[in-house]
Amino acid sequence: MRNFNYQNPTRIVFGRGTIAKITDLVPADARILITYGGGSIMQNGVHDQVMEALKGRDVLEFGGIEPNPTFETCMGAANLCRREKVDYLLAVGGGSVIDGTKFIAAAAKHEGGDPWEIMSTGGACIQSMLPLATVLTLPATGSEANSGAVISRKSTEEKCVFGSPGAYPRFSILDPTTTFSLPTNQVRNGVVDAFVHVVEQYATSDNGAMLQGRLAEGVLQTLVECGPTTLAEPENYDARAEFMWSATMALNGLLGQGVVSDWATHMIGHELTAFYGLAHAETLAVILPGVWRANLEAKRTKLEQMGSRVFGVQGAEAAIEATESFFHGLGMPTRLSDHGVDAGEAAARIVERFEARGTVLGEGKDLTPERVGEVVKSRA
Ligand code: NZQ
Ligand code: ZN
Repeated sequence: MRNFNYQNPTRIVFGRGTIAKITDLVPADARILITYGGGSIMQNGVHDQVMEALKGRDVLEFGGIEPNPTFETCMGAANLCRREKVDYLLAVGGGSVIDGTKFIAAAAKHEGGDPWEIMSTGGACIQSMLPLATVLTLPATGSEANSGAVISRKSTEEKCVFGSPGAYPRFSILDPTTTFSLPTNQVRNGVVDAFVHVVEQYATSDNGAMLQGRLAEGVLQTLVECGPTTLAEPENYDARAEFMWSATMALNGLLGQGVVSDWATHMIGHELTAFYGLAHAETLAVILPGVWRANLEAKRTKLEQMGSRVFGVQGAEAAIEATESFFHGLGMPTRLSDHGVDAGEAAARIVERFEARGTVLGEGKDLTPERVGEVVKSRA
């Protein structure tokens, strides 16, 4: 097991009826900006519950944060924060609203220079951020309990990641009933995203870390069990609750301690979203089997272990096939052609970009741009 230094400061308030707890969790004298997306919270009663909990408080609102939140939109909110002297952000929505709000929190405090610097330095330039908290309505990204965010820039077709300790939400409300209104494809995306978060920290070169392995397998098994139930029975509270907590556990940092992480699938996937607009999880389902096969020898022990403990199959190749079948069972395609994307063209664009940035991926830092191109082509 590798050395680690782990602290996750986000308070999780979980369960039915917990939105009302916001009253006690947000400082009484805060000037609050509620951020949200395209309006799902207006239809499913979540907005009403948040406003009820904040009755009598100093509240402003900013809506319209889009899926794959953009620098352009979020800068509008950052400027509003400066103008209106907002001192607390409450993100109400899925990963995009939460990520967008993390960027807003950093950009509102960014002094001098181009705020895109927050992204181009991966967060290293951040001196301070506004405090933020969340009401999660879509289990998937883990953003409700981690310090990362992914922001897109329309003008340059880029999608970049930043992280900073100040981006951990102060608290996150996880009420599984808020997810009853999710469309089927968002549930499917959420299960796949959470699954891939676990395996990017698990199906890597083996370095012992037995407990981390068992914890990861527990999350995978829970997703394999509750994912299909959640799709089949949208108002099954227990399945929703298991799914929601699994997605948080998948990327709150715990599973990544002491082990070797990969993240190649995510980094390649972000380019597919940037260039072709595929949903985040759609990109992961396409790329993951290619990354696994490209680095099969390094990953063999863990893939075999996952195969036997999670899917009850023998061998690394059987584990990869079982994972693809699981995705297909959720209605998730795993080929670029399923999305009408030409693999040769996508490979060329991604290789060019990774070469320009000097990007090398994989847990062994041996997925060169050229090898990434092969991975993408293999997923035609
Ligand atoms: O915008 P609204 O109207 O709210 O609708 C959203 C959106 O259209 C809808 N939705 C959310 N909750 C709902 C709901 N509809 C009905 N009922 C509800 N309860 O779902 C749509 C998708 O929402 P979005 O937030 O985009 O999805 P997700 O949570 O999957 O977030 C994806 C983003 O997170 C990034 C991705 O790259 C992508 O930009 N990620 C962030 C990570 C992190 N911060 O740690 C890690 C991930 O790997 C990922 O990269
Ligand atoms: Zn993800």
